[in-house]
Amino acid sequence: MEKVRFSMVFMISTTLLLLCSLSAYAQTAKSPSISPTPAPAPAPAPNFVNLTQLLTVAGPFHTFLNYLEQTKVIDTFQNQANNTEEGITIFVPKDDAFKSLKSPSLSNLTQDQLKQLMLFHALSHYYSLSDFKNLSQGSPVVTYAGGAYTLNFTDDSGAVSLDSGWSKTPISSSVFSTDPVALYQVDKVLLPEAIFGTDIPPTPVPAPAPDVMPAADTPSSVSDGGKTSSKQTNSSHRIVRCAWSYLVWVISGVLVLFL
Ligand SMILES: *[C@@H]1O[C@H](CO)[C@@H](O)[C@H](O)[C@H]1NC(C)=O
Ligand SMILES: *[C@@H]1O[C@H](CO)[C@@H](O)[C@H](O)[C@H]1NC(C)=O
Ligand SMILES: *[C@@H]1O[C@H](CO)[C@@H](O)[C@H](O)[C@H]1NC(C)=O
Ligand SMILES: *[C@@H]1O[C@H](CO)[C@@H](O)[C@H](O)[C@H]1NC(C)=O
Ligand SMILES: *[C@@H]1O[C@H](CO)[C@@H](O)[C@H](O)[C@H]1NC(C)=O
Repeated sequence: MEKVRFSMVFMISTTLLLLCSLSAYAQTAKSPSISPTPAPAPAPAPNFVNLTQLLTVAGPFHTFLNYLEQTKVIDTFQNQANNTEEGITIFVPKDDAFKSLKSPSLSNLTQDQLKQLMLFHALSHYYSLSDFKNLSQGSPVVTYAGGAYTLNFTDDSGAVSLDSGWSKTPISSSVFSTDPVALYQVDKVLLPEAIFGTDIPPTPVPAPAPDVMPAADTPSSVSDGGKTSSKQTNSSHRIVRCAWSYLVWVISGVLVLFL
């Protein structure tokens, strides 16, 4: 009788210990996937980015999107995003920028010039915000429109600006930036010298303060770190709880034996 009871207690406590260590193991085994270092980019599986959709929901960028569709440059950009390793970087002026553009006007441009103007707003390579520091050393940079359609980049301790001669504008925010597609908002329509000439009227610049918004792709690592540590404490709590219940079982088993 004593023997049977003893072996029952022994079996139960062993099973419990096994279950405990298994669950603790499962917890710890899972945790390496949530590594504290910034996770590598997700697998480049079906990374189709619908540019039309992106420009429709963000912004408002309706004027820019209308020009892209009218000139069919949207297909050129989408194809570059879909089918190249290089990817694409697009500088998108908001509707306000088109509205405030009085002179020179876009209304007299030929269809071909309009198309070049749209292509001028892109680079045939994906650049993250941090890449622009390097790009500023390589100015002037040839845009998607090619040849004489160049932009100068300046990097003022992290604040990136574009200069086409006619238009100087900061990159005011990152709308979307995941390789192979980057979309940055700019405050002005980019007017190339290759279309409008170099006879640029001096601007009585009231230099509006660039209201630079934080890059959309920075703060994620912070919240990630928080998650990781809470997971870890969770798992160690679990181990402690397991040890306790195991102890309680053993003690009660011993008590049962002697009663
Ligand atoms: C892209 O988005 C637009 C607007 O939401 C939609 O009309 C179009 O069908 C989409 N294209 C693809 C290939 O999903
Ligand atoms: C881009 O890829 C999407 C999804 O595969 C496809 O529906 C669309 O037609 C492609 N567009 C271009 C211009 O390659
Ligand atoms: C556009 O064309 C009209 C007439 O066709 C002309 O009066 C006007 O000055 C032109 N504007 C520009 C900016 O060239
Ligand atoms: C930086 O730009 C130079 C050209 O200006 C280029 O040769 C070099 O490869 C770039 N480096 C990186 C890390 O992109
Ligand atoms: C761009 O930079 C080049 C070389 O530094 C310079 O010659 C050119 O005038 C600049 N263009 C503009 C529009 O600032």
